[in-house]
Amino acid sequence: MTNDLEKGVASLSEAEAKTELARLAALLLSANRAYHTKDAPEISDADYDAEKRRNLALEARFPHLKRADSPSELVGAGVAEGFTKVAHAVRMLSLENAFQDSDVEEFEDRVRKYLGHTGVLSFTAEPKIDGLSLSLRYEKGLLTQAATRGDGDVGENVTENARNVADIPQALSGAPDVLEVRGEVYMSHTDFQSLNKRQEERGGKIFANPRNAAAGSMRQLDAAITAARPLRFFAYAWGAVSEPLADTQFSAINKLKTLGFVTNPLTKLCNSAAEMLAQYKEIAAKRPSLGYDIDGVVYKVNDLELQRRLGFRSTTPRWAIAHKFPAELAWTRLLAIDIQVGRTGALSPVARLEPVTVGGVVVSNATLHNEDYIAGRDNKGGPIRDGKDIRVGDLVQVYRAGDVIPKIADVDLGRRPDDAQPYEFPTICPECCSPTLREEGDAVRRCSGGLICPSQAVERLRHFVGRATFDIEGLGAKQIEAFYRDGWVQTPADIFSLRSRFGAGVQQLKNREGWGAKSADKLFDAIDDKRKIPLNRLIFALGIRHVGESSASLLANHYTTWPQFEAAMTQANIGSGAAWEELLAIDGVGAVLAASAISTFQNEKERAAIDALIAELDVQSVVTRAPVDSPVAGKTVVFTGTLEKMTRAEAKATAESLGAKVAGSVSAKTDLLVAGPGAGSKAKSAAALGVKIIDEDGWLALIGMA
Ligand code: IVH
Repeated sequence: MTNDLEKGVASLSEAEAKTELARLAALLLSANRAYHTKDAPEISDADYDAEKRRNLALEARFPHLKRADSPSELVGAGVAEGFTKVAHAVRMLSLENAFQDSDVEEFEDRVRKYLGHTGVLSFTAEPKIDGLSLSLRYEKGLLTQAATRGDGDVGENVTENARNVADIPQALSGAPDVLEVRGEVYMSHTDFQSLNKRQEERGGKIFANPRNAAAGSMRQLDAAITAARPLRFFAYAWGAVSEPLADTQFSAINKLKTLGFVTNPLTKLCNSAAEMLAQYKEIAAKRPSLGYDIDGVVYKVNDLELQRRLGFRSTTPRWAIAHKFPAELAWTRLLAIDIQVGRTGALSPVARLEPVTVGGVVVSNATLHNEDYIAGRDNKGGPIRDGKDIRVGDLVQVYRAGDVIPKIADVDLGRRPDDAQPYEFPTICPECCSPTLREEGDAVRRCSGGLICPSQAVERLRHFVGRATFDIEGLGAKQIEAFYRDGWVQTPADIFSLRSRFGAGVQQLKNREGWGAKSADKLFDAIDDKRKIPLNRLIFALGIRHVGESSASLLANHYTTWPQFEAAMTQANIGSGAAWEELLAIDGVGAVLAASAISTFQNEKERAAIDALIAELDVQSVVTRAPVDSPVAGKTVVFTGTLEKMTRAEAKATAESLGAKVAGSVSAKTDLLVAGPGAGSKAKSAAALGVKIIDEDGWLALIGMA
């Protein structure tokens, strides 16, 4: 591609070059903006890179034609690489979403059921600020660290920048020795407008909305730039604390206010779902006049002891929910339907739209989900959009809900062009020409090419180096795509042999745009750092269909070492036998996931790629984080029958927090069956297997909660 582009450059006249530079400036500026506003990108990263190289080649040939707004000066996605990382002492979580009134009623019900609570249950209700979350650490009253959320475990160190935000106190008096205050950095509407005006005058970056402006301003490597941006901060939560702030959410927030933080004045105490919904209406009515962006209302269980009992799921607390405002809508023209091929071969149709502003963001792409969705059918064959199909040329209604990719809500049949044709979903893969297949019961059509499909191979590599998987510093999606394109990395194992294959001279790497001997060495070191990998991350990184981040952890926690996991997957037969039964007995593992994992390990090609990878790695076994004196640590427990003092969910969470494994069915590996009234077949099989059986009181006595 590079060669073709450069050939083109050599034959251009000066006048043609000038026109071409103008085209590239517009294209790259717009693509860059789309990328950084987190809207779906307008062009692929590969095309972006190719066009950027073409621009550089043209500027090298005609230096005097270089434009004032030259895209070669654009800062790419790499800004984040300059920040040091901060591990959060207490994980920064996200929130589950509610969209309808009934979701809020269900939330209250769920909390009650989990706790077995029947009396009055109070919640706080407060605006959900549309900004960037931040964790501020104070030690002995002094601000010592500020970090962004990042992936929840590790964020970026933005301490110097936080010192320039007026709402963030530098020192507190009367605070606990250690206090981590969490909240949202945001920008007001008026500040946002004047910032963009200044940016326009200076030819700087124009922000699509206040949230992007706040995030972009906070994540500046130069704290002087942050200082010049009018950022604000609302405190609404806390992380590590050396002593409790209060007994309730409401008074803890008040305490933060007394300490000098700005807290949201619309925070209110509610005693039922009905009161929460009333507060939601109240906040929604005030939304247009608040002067800053909010995207919903957050409800939190008020009693902090109940919050503790409710605890967390993998990424969200059980004691809070975000009730989002309805999505904003806009009509625009559907210009084309493109097909993207994902890591598991799924063909995803993408709508290319005439750009339109929806909720402050310019949208030019939307997801079309799958072929049934385009045809106007749901996954059971029933009509969606009253059965209206979507055709290129149609006028379509686009909406955005929060951070999600824009979607299409409706089609205006009255304005459909006469020549619009029904869309034919590809039966061969547009990337590798392999046939596409749709399995019975699956909404998705997939490319059958496996690793021979360049798209699947690249997507798997992107997944492999992602944040939740190998997370190799300096090896992001863009770099891995370039390595794949140039034939340097075909499979994950190839990443780990880069130094031995290219390290000696580093000449070839040096020749790459933006690479020097130092950066090559740095990359090789970063790769070596990740040879040691926790088992759960490795399993997730393998990209097995149906094995997501949390199921990878379930598998890792059960098998604890790579050799045991590998042996189990190799020996298991789908549908029967001891290894299959053991896999299915893991709470949270179903037959679809199990079959997918086994068939991956038993597929020759996949297996070869996995073996080559393992040869490069030092896989770390799972260390059970059991409290030393827990009598159930390491034991496999099954609950059956009715529990009267706690709900099943709470019993499970408590057992797990004490280091026990909770299984869904009884097997030879079960250590203990906790049987309540009405226990049936599980109690029988436990008795037959000689498994110890106790009742709920026995369980509570055992764990010291009687
Ligand atoms: S509470 C453990 N309260 O929304 C839960 N979050 O979608 C901690 N957010 O990551 C969050 N306003 O960045 C909470 N009043 C509010 C919020 C709020 C905005 C953000 C926060 C969080 C995201 C989840």
